[in-house]
Amino acid sequence: MDHRNDSKKTEPRMIEKKCSWASYMTYSPTVIVMIGLPARGKTYISKKLTRYLNWIGVPTKVFNLGVYRREAVQSYQSFDFFRHDNQEAMKIRKHCAIVALKDVKYYFSEEGGQIAVFDATNTTRERRNLILSFAQENSYKVFFVESICDDPEVIAANILDVKVSSPDYSERHRESAMDDFLKRIECYKVTYQPLDPDQHDKDLSLIQVINVGQRFLVNRVQDYIQSKIVYYLMNIHVQKHSIYLCRHGESQHNVQGCIGGDSELSSRGKEFSIALRGFLESQKIPDLKVWTSQLRRTIQTAEELGVPYEQWKILNEIDAGICEEMTYEKIQETYPYEYSLRDQDKYHYRYPGGESYQDLVQRLEPVIMELERQGNVLVICHQAVTRYDLAYLKCPLHVVMKLTPVAYGCKVEMFDLKVEAVNTHRDRPLGCSRHQMPPTLLRRNSFTPLSSQDQVKRPRLFSVGNPPRLASFPALSSTRFPGAQESEELNESQEILNCFSPSDSKDGVQQ
Ligand code: SIN
Repeated sequence: MDHRNDSKKTEPRMIEKKCSWASYMTYSPTVIVMIGLPARGKTYISKKLTRYLNWIGVPTKVFNLGVYRREAVQSYQSFDFFRHDNQEAMKIRKHCAIVALKDVKYYFSEEGGQIAVFDATNTTRERRNLILSFAQENSYKVFFVESICDDPEVIAANILDVKVSSPDYSERHRESAMDDFLKRIECYKVTYQPLDPDQHDKDLSLIQVINVGQRFLVNRVQDYIQSKIVYYLMNIHVQKHSIYLCRHGESQHNVQGCIGGDSELSSRGKEFSIALRGFLESQKIPDLKVWTSQLRRTIQTAEELGVPYEQWKILNEIDAGICEEMTYEKIQETYPYEYSLRDQDKYHYRYPGGESYQDLVQRLEPVIMELERQGNVLVICHQAVTRYDLAYLKCPLHVVMKLTPVAYGCKVEMFDLKVEAVNTHRDRPLGCSRHQMPPTLLRRNSFTPLSSQDQVKRPRLFSVGNPPRLASFPALSSTRFPGAQESEELNESQEILNCFSPSDSKDGVQQ
């Protein structure tokens, strides 16, 4: 097929409802209902799972009941609030749950959400029945995720890591926080009814995660997305590890301003690989694994490290199809129509005969899953643009990113190895903001259904006692790295990063 001619034709204007490939597999909205005593990692799982689901293109949001409760009861006094015989508090807690479920409904009906993670203890059948009735009334599916953990060390570590510094405990009360929190857990234990997949709950769809992934019990998985959730939960681990991401050293094609191809390293690219070796030695990383793509520039970068490495074809650069090995100027001159299509919606634009960034996300999924399973890994990969809320983030050559999962997010550190390189990023063209552009023009063969809605944090809609506010116009997500500038070209590592990094950042630690 001659794409050159195609690009010059007047293309039909197609405005399509955009959903991701994975979204099609959910069929109806799903409420993921967390269950477990406090400090069992429910929030950790909720956040991690949500990032993953958004990354594969299923709009997902966490609804954390603690946040609703803190809004309703501004100052937390003590564990007494959580006693099952505290009638007044019980009323408030139930009301908060109802408000949160209203927000879930709004998210599904008005904001394009497809999965809501209801992050709360949900330890009683009464509460779970309330959620089941709500779901039934609205034709939502329900999938329960129960975290059962009886390892006192894991529980204590969780309390120390996150609970002691929770907004429930002011500086003044930090010292007694551990004590209060343990008593809070005891309050819940009095009425806790774990799931009973053999009898009472045998018809429910659920996974029990036992002792942070030592064992799992899975029951009645209803659909594709639930099976993805199960698979993901079975792969994540909580051991401390870091993922190092960098692009290959500068290549001959980088110097020429060409995209794609399989060129060798430039002399500065070789210099970077030597610097990378020094950097890794200085970091003294135990049991580091090194992964590359199957393209020469990543392999040559890894060769210099003097350690074994694995080559992954799926880490190869985005396939630019007919635009491979061309400069941007050449693409603009040869395929002006393609060039403008791409500027309108870079994430979904598919190069004729090549890939879109969304294709790339799907291709990279096995890498993400494997990274979840691994310890310390260095991934040497390529430049490519990430999903649209990160599409203009700069990720230069010769910089190493270190990602370390922490309590509820991912700590991101950047190391510039100070080896000069060409600047491969291209600024977003003026007037090409996703929200300023007219509806996207799409070639029939370039259409790929859209991934998640923007994952910008918006204020909750149903405050306790307040009517819903009108949904605000979605804004672009904030930049994840302090100091990073808008850039056109990112790298596949950014795609991976996006799966690990949450959607907002604070002091370098992304929450
Ligand atoms: C909270 O109020 O912090 C959590 C409430 C719950 O999930 O039981």
